[in-house]
Amino acid sequence: MKNNQTRKIYDDNASSWERHQPNSLSDFTGRPKIFELCGDVSGLNILDIGCGEGYCSRTLMTQGAEHIEGIDISPMMIKIAGDREEKDKLGINYQTGDVQDLPYSDSTFDLVIGVFVYNYLHIKETMKSMKEVYRVLKNGGRFIFAVPHPAFPQIKKEKKSPFFFDFGNSGYFTSRDTRYHGKIFCRDGKELPVQMVHKLLSDYIKCLQESGFNSLPEMHELGVCKEHLVLDELFFKPVYDIPLHLAIAINK
Ligand SMILES: C[S@@+](CC[C@H](N)C(=O)[O-])C[C@H]1O[C@@H](n2cnc3c(N)ncnc32)[C@H](O)[C@@H]1O
Repeated sequence: MKNNQTRKIYDDNASSWERHQPNSLSDFTGRPKIFELCGDVSGLNILDIGCGEGYCSRTLMTQGAEHIEGIDISPMMIKIAGDREEKDKLGINYQTGDVQDLPYSDSTFDLVIGVFVYNYLHIKETMKSMKEVYRVLKNGGRFIFAVPHPAFPQIKKEKKSPFFFDFGNSGYFTSRDTRYHGKIFCRDGKELPVQMVHKLLSDYIKCLQESGFNSLPEMHELGVCKEHLVLDELFFKPVYDIPLHLAIAINK
């Protein structure tokens, strides 16, 4: 049921998500750090979980990855990704599926990325998915994911561009594992509906540990920086100096 809800949101808005260049707020404030954390991807076999219309897969493929598999719950997002792949022929394989049940063999991938997908999953579901990620990663492989910063909705309560959740007066601890709706805006004026199942910072760490990851995670708190203001002050200024996203990287 919950997955059907997520699928519908993305099926209904798939065409607005398609991009040919950075456009949404997090294309500037979140994804560049993920690509930086991926480092040199030459020769790597990569899995992109919750790949959407393929923005991150395409970026990593053009940076030299050997092969990429993308999986997403929304058939419409996968259709857009697949149509682009048919034209671009980058060598990415997309399929519809749930990140809680990955259709790949054990120890297949050098790198798994999950960019703003865990905000759609409850704690138990996140745990299940991370166990799957651990299983399909090779020993020494790396897992990198991004989520909205758990403190963000406590700090930015007004429902205004370029990013918000309808968190109201919910408390940080008492709203744990509750789903909220929100919006993220694009520089071309598009508004994209997003959701966040609020989790505590410690929930993400616990999920990783209980999934088998036992090294220390590398964590980055991301937001708007001065370069963004120089680029487009009107767009970025309302969320300047606020923690927007969290990027986490960990090795198997
Ligand atoms: C915010 S979009 C991000 C898409 C892509 N990672 C990117 O960075 O452009 C979140 C994506 O997660 C997908 N998603 C949500 N829950 C999922 C699940 N349980 N299994 C697979 N995909 C899921 C949605 O369909 C959507 O395409």
